Amino acid sequence: MLHEQIATALNEQIKLEAQSSHTYLAMAVWAETNGFDGTATFLYAQAEEERMHMLKLMQFVNERGGLANVPALEAPVETYDGVEAIFRSILAHETSVTASINSVVDQCLSIKDYTTYNFMQWYVAEQIEEESMARMLLDKLALAGGDRGALYLFDRDIVGLGKESAN
Ligand SMILES: [Fe+2]
Ligand SMILES: [Fe+2]
Repeated sequence: MLHEQIATALNEQIKLEAQSSHTYLAMAVWAETNGFDGTATFLYAQAEEERMHMLKLMQFVNERGGLANVPALEAPVETYDGVEAIFRSILAHETSVTASINSVVDQCLSIKDYTTYNFMQWYVAEQIEEESMARMLLDKLALAGGDRGALYLFDRDIVGLGKESAN
């Protein structure tokens, strides 16, 4: 049986993953309607991944005798200043998600819930990947320096990266 404090923390994480999916979806729509089809493909795939992160948590909570809440979500930002602004926002968001996951892990240790601690290690590893992906893409965009030709190549090359990161 899940400790109430852990059930609450996991439900907050469920909401954060759902909100992440929602945010990536809004970014994908912006990219698709502003001529960045490759970036849109990448972002739609990220939205699906975040939904999978949410589902995995929900199923864990339910299997452990808790009750997963289907969260109400905030409307995501719909307008962006460009692809670089999107990836800056993604890095900031993923960094805050990592902090939230670390807090769940801390709570697991303090109440000695080693089962959930073990389960959460998948999320710890996933966040390392997501943060480094966002940093790598921001580095590429910094190199492009707003040059239209370079942005075109960025948008073409990002499609493969989305597939690599899908798991
Ligand atoms: Fe996630
Ligand atoms: Fe994420």
